[in-house]
Amino acid sequence: MKITDCNNTADFRKLAKKRLPAPLFHYIDGGADDEVTLRRNTEAFDQVSLIPDALADLSGMDLSTTVLGQQLDWPVFLSPTGMTRLFHHEGERAVCRAAEESGTMYSLSTVSTVSIEEIGALTSGPKCFQIYIHKDRGLTYEFIERCKAASYSALCLTVDTLVAGNRERDLVTGMVMPPRFTPSSMLSFMLHPGWAWHYLTSEKFQLANVADRISDGTGTLTSVIDYINRQFDRSITWADAEQLVQAWGGPFAIKGVMSVEDAKRAMDIGASAVMVSNHGGRQLDGSTAPFDQLAAIVDAVGGNIEVILDGGVRRGTHVLKALAMGAKACMIGRGYLYALAAGGQPAVERTLQRLKDEVERDMILMGCATLSELNRDKLHFHN
Ligand code: FNR
Repeated sequence: MKITDCNNTADFRKLAKKRLPAPLFHYIDGGADDEVTLRRNTEAFDQVSLIPDALADLSGMDLSTTVLGQQLDWPVFLSPTGMTRLFHHEGERAVCRAAEESGTMYSLSTVSTVSIEEIGALTSGPKCFQIYIHKDRGLTYEFIERCKAASYSALCLTVDTLVAGNRERDLVTGMVMPPRFTPSSMLSFMLHPGWAWHYLTSEKFQLANVADRISDGTGTLTSVIDYINRQFDRSITWADAEQLVQAWGGPFAIKGVMSVEDAKRAMDIGASAVMVSNHGGRQLDGSTAPFDQLAAIVDAVGGNIEVILDGGVRRGTHVLKALAMGAKACMIGRGYLYALAAGGQPAVERTLQRLKDEVERDMILMGCATLSELNRDKLHFHN
């Protein structure tokens, strides 16, 4: 199977599974506990069906939108994912270039393996930096200053990860960062010589934004779960979030909002957007899916802040359903990570292009020339 044989996210997932050592594939692919929420995130889209209109003059087609103050060519952008260089040696560099090429926004994680400054210099496309608040609170304000200096467009604060989700696949595979070459893991790495060669000959693994401040990020072996549990601050409140909104002074999203009340709180503290998200089913298993909550949150914030859907998006029709329900845009995480693992930047470019083509084709089939024509009248609600 080659990159050119991959036509959709599921195909790239299959190729990623072949190309990656098992601990890394399962780190991307897995969710918390029994993975009920992971599955629900995508299945939730089946609760509604699309109702197309015909003969609507679709000679002009415009997929562009404005999200977090950024003009995007199409209504999908890239979620932040940590430790990306583990999945392909070009890591965040490949993904941010592919996002720019596709005319959309890239989000860089706090726990990225390429620094805020390097990504800032590498792409002039729209960039969002994602914040995890560490116990060392000074770090967060340093991130904000560094993002201002590196011309980031927006910030998002992730609020669903005070403690690591129970990702049991990682316990089984022994997923640690940086990867451990033990007798038992050797077999998996030896079966993936391409990955192992690049990993061993590329620059040292590190959490580039925190490496000089936190020893966990400098190459000491640690599990992701331990890192989160040791370093992330559980005492943060909406008052802290409000201070960050003010310190940044630009477009700011709260990522991980799932309840109507929290969406209203985000609005009250002056956030520009909520990213309705359960971290791709990696945190609280048994929690509801972003698509399940979307309508109630859209109605509660009444257009005062942007509502972005994050989680479970695998198809163009998922994007159309979310937009028809009232989301401004969608984000994808695994959707680009599988492609990155399968084949670096060209594969990420291909998966983004395929999804963009799907969105455009589906818009034509729906009889819509602009995203604003998508509304709830175009949805049939089952039961
Ligand atoms: C993530 N996600 C995530 N979120 C975040 O705010 N900071 C981070 O560092 C990470 N890291 C991360 C790593 C990996 C391997 C995955 C799969 C996910 C969550 C991510 O931003 C997003 O919310 C989900 O991936 C969305 O769900 P889908 O698109 O993967 O279904």
